[in-house]
Amino acid sequence: MTTPRKLHIKSYGCQMNVYDAQRMVDTLAVEGFVETANAEEADLVILNTCHIREKASEKVYSELGRLRVAKDEAARQGREMKIAVAGCVAQAEGEEIIHRAPTVDIVVGPQSYHHLPQLLKHAKEHGRALETEFPIEDKFVFVPQPKPDAIRSRGISAFVTVQEGCDKFCTFCVVPYTRGAEVSRPVAKIIDDVTRLAENGVREITLIGQNVNAYHGEGPDGCAWPLGKLLQRLAVIPGVARLRYSTSHPRDVDDSLIEAHRDLPALMPFVHLPVQSGADRILAAMNRKHTADEYRRVIDRFRSARQDIAFSSDFIVGFPGETEREFCATLALVTQIGYAAAYSFKYSPRPGTPAAEMRETVSAAEMDERLGRLQELIDSQQSAFNRAAIGTTVDVLFERAARNPGQIVGRTAYLQPAHVMAPSDIIGRILPVKIGSLERYSLIGELPTSPLLATPSRNLPTTIGA
Ligand code: SAH
Ligand code: SF4
Ligand code: F3S
Repeated sequence: MTTPRKLHIKSYGCQMNVYDAQRMVDTLAVEGFVETANAEEADLVILNTCHIREKASEKVYSELGRLRVAKDEAARQGREMKIAVAGCVAQAEGEEIIHRAPTVDIVVGPQSYHHLPQLLKHAKEHGRALETEFPIEDKFVFVPQPKPDAIRSRGISAFVTVQEGCDKFCTFCVVPYTRGAEVSRPVAKIIDDVTRLAENGVREITLIGQNVNAYHGEGPDGCAWPLGKLLQRLAVIPGVARLRYSTSHPRDVDDSLIEAHRDLPALMPFVHLPVQSGADRILAAMNRKHTADEYRRVIDRFRSARQDIAFSSDFIVGFPGETEREFCATLALVTQIGYAAAYSFKYSPRPGTPAAEMRETVSAAEMDERLGRLQELIDSQQSAFNRAAIGTTVDVLFERAARNPGQIVGRTAYLQPAHVMAPSDIIGRILPVKIGSLERYSLIGELPTSPLLATPSRNLPTTIGA
C-alpha cells in the first residue's frame, strides 16, 4: 500500500471559502490525499484566500514567506512540497502572484478548483500552473461528494452552497469580479446534498451564497424556485433540525422567504441582513439599490412574520465622502433596529472597483474614531441581547466537547454559544437549557434533570459518530 499524500489547507474570508476548502479536500481525497493540521509535513499546501479588504489579501504574501521556508526545509529532507494559492486573491491577482512569489506552484481560481488534480500533475511535469477561468456550472457537476466518514468528521453543522457569484456590483466590493455572475444550483442537487449530509449525522444546514436570497435554481417542475420554496422543501428531509441561510441582500427579500420564516419552525429566527450604512446618499454611492427606510421596512416584514426574529448586519465606516452627519445616520439606524450582533469594517479601497476611484476619502483617524463609536454601540446591543437570555430556557443544538473537561458546547437559535456540563452523547441533539449566566459571549446553563434527557429531542438519533 502506498503512503497517503498529505494536504494542508488554510482558509481565509467567508463561509463560501470554508465550503470550498472542504470541496478541495473531497476532490483531492480521490487522489489519495489526507488532511494534516501541520503545514510543515504536507506534500501540498493550499492557501484559500480572500480579497475583500486590503488586510485580508496582504496576509497571503506573509503566509507565502513562511511557507517558502517550510518548502526549502522539506527539499533539504528530500521531500517535495507543492504550494497552491486558491480563492479570491488567486482570481484577482493570479498573474501578480506568479511574478511576486516564485515559491507558488499552482494558482487556481474559485471556479476551477475541481481541476486541482490535473493542475498538480501539470506542476509536477511541466512547472507552474495558473487557472482562473469561470467554468462554474462545470465545477458544480464535477466536484466529488464527500465520503460518509468525511461528513461525520466535520460535525453536526454543514454549509451547502446553493448560489454563487453576484450581479449587484456594490461600488466598494470585489466579489462580482472574483466570483463572477450569479449562478444558482438546481433544487434536485441541493436536496441530494442535504439528504446525504442528514443521513450522516448533520443536523443543521446553512445554505450559503454571496447573495443567497437571489437564489432561483431550477425546481423539479422546471420552474425557477425562490429561496423560500427551497427552504420549505429542505425542511421535510428527515434529520434536518435547523436551517439557516447567509448572506442575504435587503433588495431580494421576497414573500416566499418571509412565509418560510412564518411557517417553518426549523428555519432559525436569526437573519444576517447587511445594510452597510444608514445614510441614503452613501447607500446610493455604494450602489446598494435601497434606502435606509426600505431596509427598515424589510426588517418590519420579517418581524411581523416571526416575533422572536433577531438580526445581524455588516457596516462599512468611512466610505468615500461619508460626513459626520451621515455616519450619525448609521448610528441612528443601529439604535432603531437593535441588532443581536454585527460586523463593522473600515472602508478599504479595492483595485478595479468604482469606489476606489472616488476622491473624497475619509482620513484614517476619522475612520478609526467612527469604527470605535459604532463598535461600542453594537457591543452594547449584543451584550444586552445575550444578557436577556439569562433566566430563560432556550433550545440548544449540541455540537462538540468544550475546552473545559465535562462541558459540551452548542448553539442557540441565535448562534450564541451555550455551555453545559453533560455527557457527550447529547452531541447532535437539541435540548432545552436553562441559562444561568453569561461569560463574555458564551451562555452558561444547565440541562433539565435526567428523565427528560433520556428522550431524544424531535425524534432525532441520539448520537452521531463524530
Ligand atoms: N454579499 C454580502 C457581503 C459580502 S462581503 C452583502 O451583500 O452584504 C462581506 C462584508 O465585507 C460586506 O458586507 C461589507 O460590509 C464588507 N466589505 C466588502 N467590501 C469592503 C471594502 N472594500 N471595504 C470594507 N469592507 C468591505
Ligand atoms: Fe459585494 Fe454587494 Fe454583491 Fe454583497 S451584494 S457580494 S457587497 S457586490
Ligand atoms: Fe473574501 Fe472571496 Fe469570500 S473576497 S469574503 S473569500 S467571496
